[in-house]
Amino acid sequence: MTTQKTVIPITELEQSAFCQTEGNLRTKTLEEEFRAGVRWQKVPARYLKLSVAELDRGIAEARSALGGTTIVLGHHYQREDIIKYADFRGDSYKLSKMAAQTRDARVIVFCGVHFMAETADILAGSGQTVILPNMAAGCSMADMARTDDAEDCWADLASVLGGVAGEIIPVTYMNSTAAIKALCGRNGGLVCTSSNAAEAFKWAFARGKRILFLPDQHLGRNTGFKMGIPLDEMVLWSPFRPMGGLAPDQIRKAKVILWQGHCSVHTRFTVEQIRMAREQYPGVKVLVHPECTLDVIKAADLNGSTEFIAKTIGAAPPGSIWAIGTEINLVNRLAHEYPDRKIFCLDPIVCPCATMYRIHPAYLLWVLEGLMTGLVINRVHVSEPTRGQALLALERMLEVGG
Ligand code: 13P
Ligand code: SF4
Repeated sequence: MTTQKTVIPITELEQSAFCQTEGNLRTKTLEEEFRAGVRWQKVPARYLKLSVAELDRGIAEARSALGGTTIVLGHHYQREDIIKYADFRGDSYKLSKMAAQTRDARVIVFCGVHFMAETADILAGSGQTVILPNMAAGCSMADMARTDDAEDCWADLASVLGGVAGEIIPVTYMNSTAAIKALCGRNGGLVCTSSNAAEAFKWAFARGKRILFLPDQHLGRNTGFKMGIPLDEMVLWSPFRPMGGLAPDQIRKAKVILWQGHCSVHTRFTVEQIRMAREQYPGVKVLVHPECTLDVIKAADLNGSTEFIAKTIGAAPPGSIWAIGTEINLVNRLAHEYPDRKIFCLDPIVCPCATMYRIHPAYLLWVLEGLMTGLVINRVHVSEPTRGQALLALERMLEVGG
């Protein structure tokens, strides 16, 4: 058991650097983007000044030279100037399945964040290499569950419950490090995404009386609530307080122990924004991601993963009106792809996910040009024993489906 002072991750501090009201997220040269005072990975100087058109040409040439040996995966939150190069786009679940199934390509360039690239590496074949174009593209939520804190928590829970077998199952959201996934794998638990959290909870409750859910308290609470678990049976574990800030009795009575983590993009959405959207657009449908707070989920009409959001909008009738509570790049893309539907972001202040945003085309060109000369830049590799233990937890997730 340890106590420590609150450390706000750099990614969380940077979150507001790109917030703006006019919604103009056009890519600039990397040099100009660096002027916002961000801390991104250093690149060779020649990539700093390349214009968007030059980057575009370079990436297209590199892609055609590399052919089918290299595939590019793009998460829905990637900026437009990246997503246009993606061979496959999707949510975390779809992209991890893609990584597990795509055996032809020798190299997978993952345009997303670090935990996604780690997952792709764990699920990919032994001859495949996974690259993350900018190693600074982490996830502030994943950073909120440090390995030593999670290990301490697990040991504390075991001591209060008199052992873990049949008592508690660890479940981690995909948005976590490979080490946290490994903790779940070796302790009989599994991984879930926002597409299959309820299935993962059912799997876990078939094997234990309670769940430790890391690192997103909101997805955990929303999933428990949807399954009918009373709110007072879901308690919050603070990694900054002895025994999580909980009394032994609270732990014994709990069905779900929620790690105190959150997403700084999705906790910006509020019930007041929903009220205003409904007032301004009678008949509007409100569609949000399950990383939003429970009050927002209750006030919205629908919630689901990024893939669910994209599919729901794709199937919506022309003329329908949608207020969406998720990352702005996806919202803008949907608005552009479906001009016959009115689609807007719930939050009038536009804040991209600061870490997804770090995949600038200059980084993509850098790693692709490296591959053309036989150089692997920014390989993400998870070594044993973490790899095997995390794989167990991921395989259980793929078995429960989504
Ligand atoms: P999805 O799995 O819905 O794509 O979510 C990933 C994510 O990071 C949302 O913030
Ligand atoms: Fe992490 Fe939130 Fe960004 Fe998703 S949107 S990658 S949870 S910081």
